[in-house]
Amino acid sequence: MAQIVLAGGNGFLGKALAAHFAAKGYEPVILTRKPEAGNIFKQIVWDGATVGPWAKALEGAFSVINLAGASVSKRHTRAYRQQILSSRLLPTQAIGKAVAQCDHPPRWWLNASGINIYPCAAGRMYDEAAPLDGTDFLADVCRQWEEAAGAFTLQHTRRVLLRTALVLGRSNQSVLQPLAQLARLGLGGPAGDGLQLMSWIHVMDYVHAVDFIMHDTDWQGPVNVASPQTVTNGQFMQAIRQAVGCRFGLPAPAWGIRLGSLLMNREASLLLHSACAYPRRLVEAGFAFRFPKLEPAVADLLSRD
Ligand SMILES: NC(=O)c1ccc[n+]([C@@H]2O[C@H](COP(=O)([O-])OP(=O)(O)OC[C@H]3O[C@@H](n4cnc5c(N)ncnc54)[C@H](OP(=O)(O)O)[C@@H]3O)[C@@H](O)[C@H]2O)c1
Repeated sequence: MAQIVLAGGNGFLGKALAAHFAAKGYEPVILTRKPEAGNIFKQIVWDGATVGPWAKALEGAFSVINLAGASVSKRHTRAYRQQILSSRLLPTQAIGKAVAQCDHPPRWWLNASGINIYPCAAGRMYDEAAPLDGTDFLADVCRQWEEAAGAFTLQHTRRVLLRTALVLGRSNQSVLQPLAQLARLGLGGPAGDGLQLMSWIHVMDYVHAVDFIMHDTDWQGPVNVASPQTVTNGQFMQAIRQAVGCRFGLPAPAWGIRLGSLLMNREASLLLHSACAYPRRLVEAGFAFRFPKLEPAVADLLSRD
C-alpha cells in the first residue's frame, strides 16, 4: 500500500488528510512528537528538528506532506514568535535533509505555507504570481518557511508550497466552531469595522485540492489553496449567524477584540487584519470546488447532522 507521510499529521488538517487518503487506499503515516493513544493510523515519533530513524518512513513513500508548526492563534509575544518560526523551519529542514538522503525518495513533498505571505491590500489580486511584499511578521514567517523548503536539490521529488487560506471544518480545532459558538450567544457581529478581507476554504475542498495536486498534473511551486470567493469579515460573520439561526450579532469593536485577546492569550491581528489570495492555479487547472461560496460551506459545516 502506498504511504503518505504526514508530518504534524495529528492536527486539524493532518487528521482530515489522513482520513481522506486512508479511504482511498493509501496508508497514512503520522510523524508526531507525542503519539496519541487510540489513533487508528500508524504514528512514528520524531523530534521535528533532526533526521532520525523516522526518515525510513520516507523511503519509497508516495508523498510527504509537512504540516508541522506551532499554532499562530496564540498571542505573538516575542518569545512565541520565535516558536512560531522555529517550529516551521526546523521540521521543514529536517524533511528536506531526509528526502535528499533517500534511495527511493517520495514522489511529492507538499509543504504547508500560508496566504499571509501576501500583504492583501484592497483592490489587488493575490494569485501565485503576486509579489511577496508583505511586511508583517506572518509574511516573513511564510517567506522563510518556503525558502527552507526550496533550499534542497531534489531531482526526483516534486515540491509544492500549499499557501493555505483559513480552513473551515467541523472539528473543534477549526476557528469556525468557536465563532459559531459566539454567534449562538448573540456575539457574532463583525470584528472591528468588518471590512477586512478573508479568504477561506471548506476542509473538504482543502483535502480534495491536495489530492488533485498529487494526482492530476505536474505541479510544483506555490499553490493558493483557497476558495475563489474572498469575503469581508462582516460577510463572514453574517454567514455564520445565518447558519446558526441568530439574526442579531453584537459587533466587537477593535479595542474590545484587542483587550479580549490579551486576556485570553490570543492573537488579535488574525481577526482584525486582511488575509486574501486567489487560487488561480487550481482554477486554471480545472479543480472543481465543492464549496466555492461561503454560505453553503458554512451551512454544511454547522449543520447538526
Ligand atoms: N488550519 C488552517 O486554517 C491553516 C491555514 C493556513 C496554514 N495552515 C498551516 O498548516 C499547518 C497545519 O495546520 P493545522 O490547522 O493542522 O495545525 P495544528 O492542528 O496546530 O497541527 C499542527 C501540528 O504541528 C505539530 N507541531 C507543533 N509544533 C511543532 C514543533 N515545534 N515541531 C514539530 N511539530 C510541531 C503538532 O504535532 P505533534 O504535537 O503531534 O508533534 C501539531 O499537531 C500549520 O503549519 C498551519 O500553520 C493552517
